[in-house]
Amino acid sequence: MLETSNRSDEIAAKVALRRTFAIISHPDAGKTTLTEKILLYAGAIELAGAVRGRKSRRHAVSDWMAMEQERGISLTSTALEFDLDGRRITLLDTPGHKDFSEDTYRSLVAADSVVMVLDSAKGVEEQTRKLFQVCKRHRLPILTFVNKCDTDGRDPLELLDEIESVLGISAAPLNWPIGRGAHFRGVYDLSRKEVLLYEKHMQGQRRAPVTVADHLDPSLEELAGEYAYREFMDGINIVATAGTIFDHREYLNGRQTGVFFGSAINNFGLEPFLDGLVALAPPPGPRMTQDGEEIDPASTDFSGFVFKIQANMDPRHRDHVAFVRVCSGQLLKDMTVINGRLGATVRVSRPYKIFGRDRETSTEAYAGDIVGLVNPGRFMIGDSLYTGRPVQFPRVPQFAAEHFARLRLDGQRHKQFDDGVRQLEEEGLMQVFRTSHGRDPIVGVVGALQFDVIQSRLLNEYRVESRVEPMNYFAARWMEPAETTRESLAGLGVNVLDVTDRLGRTVILFPTEWSLQYAERENPRVKFVSEVDR
Ligand code: G4P
Repeated sequence: MLETSNRSDEIAAKVALRRTFAIISHPDAGKTTLTEKILLYAGAIELAGAVRGRKSRRHAVSDWMAMEQERGISLTSTALEFDLDGRRITLLDTPGHKDFSEDTYRSLVAADSVVMVLDSAKGVEEQTRKLFQVCKRHRLPILTFVNKCDTDGRDPLELLDEIESVLGISAAPLNWPIGRGAHFRGVYDLSRKEVLLYEKHMQGQRRAPVTVADHLDPSLEELAGEYAYREFMDGINIVATAGTIFDHREYLNGRQTGVFFGSAINNFGLEPFLDGLVALAPPPGPRMTQDGEEIDPASTDFSGFVFKIQANMDPRHRDHVAFVRVCSGQLLKDMTVINGRLGATVRVSRPYKIFGRDRETSTEAYAGDIVGLVNPGRFMIGDSLYTGRPVQFPRVPQFAAEHFARLRLDGQRHKQFDDGVRQLEEEGLMQVFRTSHGRDPIVGVVGALQFDVIQSRLLNEYRVESRVEPMNYFAARWMEPAETTRESLAGLGVNVLDVTDRLGRTVILFPTEWSLQYAERENPRVKFVSEVDR
C-alpha cells in the first residue's frame, strides 16, 4: 500500500512538471515562426529555421513525406518534446496550410491547453475561428499571442474587442504593445508594471536583449516617439480602467484568454509570453472516461488513447505509427497494455517520441506525453489502452469534412480499391459517404490536399489508380437527434445531398453556407452538428 502511494507520488511529481499544448492559427499568422522561436529559447534547436525553412529545406526536421519536401509544407502533425524552465513541454503541431486536415482538429483533443496566434493586422481569421470552436467545445484554456506587432497592425483595443465579439470569450491583456509597425518599441507588463524594451537584433538569429525601465521614464517617450507613446499611454489607461483583468481560473475554464503582444520573427515579446505560458498553462489534469469517471493522472495504472494514426512516416520502414496521449500512470518500454477495443494485450516494444524526423525510443512516459507506437494494424483512432482496471475514454471525435469528391477507381482492381478505401477511412484520413445510388464512394476531407494523399497512398500501397472528381459542397453536417432523416426534415434548400456515413448515420451535404443556415431556420428542433463520435 505504502509502496503504491510512494509510486503515485513519484508519478504526480513528474506530471506536475508537464505542459502539453497545441498552437492554433490561420495560415501565415506566424505559427511556424513562433514554434521555431519557442524551440530556440528552450535550447531545443540551435538556429531558428530548423522546424521548416520554406526557402531552405536543408534543416527541415518536421517533414517526413516526399510530398512535403516537394511542396514545402508540413503535412503531418508532430509532437515536439523539450524542456523549458524545468518543465517538460510537449508541443503538438497542428498543420494549418493546405495540409489542414482532421488531424489538426484531433491534435487538440490530445492537448491540455492551446496557444492562439493572431496576426496583429488581420485579427481573428477563418481557420482560427474554426479551430477555436473545437477548443471551446473541449474547454481548453487558451493563451493568445498577437504576432507581427512590428507591422502596421490594428489598434490593440480593437483586437481585444474582436476576440470577444467574434469568438465569444473574454480577452484579458497580460502585456501591452508600445507603438506599432516601424514604431514598435516593446511591451509593457501589466502586472509587474515594467516596460520591456526590445532591440531589433539580427532577425531571428539570436535572443533580443531585454532592458527593463519604468513606463513613465521620459526616455520612453523619446524612444517611442510622441504618437506611439500617447497611443500606448491611452491604451494602458483604458485597460486599467475598463479592461478585463486576467483571472487564472477563468482562463483554466476556457472562458477567458490571456493576451500577449509581440513579434515572433524579431524576438519581440517572446520572453514574457513564454514565462506566462510556463506559469499559467495547466499540467495534465484528470481525464474523464466515457462513463464520466475521472482518471487521476498520478494513478499507478497506465492509461492513454490513440488520437492519430500515421502511415509511411519513414519511407525506409513503411510503417504505421499510432500516436498515444498518455493520461495516467507510467508507460515503459516493453510493457504489456490492454487494447480495450480488441480485449487483447499488446506489448509496447518500441514506444518512441519524435522530434521532427528523428525518433528516439522513449524509456518512460507520463500523463501529457505523446508516444508513437509502431502499429502493425492493431490500433485505431480512439482506442483506449490501459493496465489494471478497464478504462474507456470518450471516442475521439470526427469532424465535419469541408471538401468533397467522388472517388473513382481507374481499372479493375475493385477489391484492392475497396480495401484501400476502408483502410484509409479507418486511419481517419478521410470520411467515406455512400448515396443510395452509385458504387463509387463520396469522400470528404477537412483539407483539400488530403485528396492527393489519398490517391498517392492508394497507388503506392494498393497499386490502385484512382480519380478524384471534386463536388461543390461547402459543409457536411450530422444531425441531432441522430434518428433524423432527410424525410423528417421540414425544409431543405435545393442542391442539398443526403448521404450515409460509415456508421449508417445520415449526413447532409450543403452547397453553401446560406443553405445550411436556411435548413437551420426551417428545422429549429434539429441540431446540425459538425462534431460527432467516431
Ligand atoms: P504560419 O506557420 O502561421 O503559416 O506562419 P509563418 O511562421 O510561416 O509566417 C508567415 C510569414 O510571416 C513568414 O513570412 C514569416 O517570416 C512572417 N512573420 C512571422 N512572424 C512575423 C513577425 O513577427 N513580423 C513580421 N513582420 N513577419 C512575421 P514569409 O515571407 O511568408 O516567409 P519567409 O520567407 O519569411 O519564410
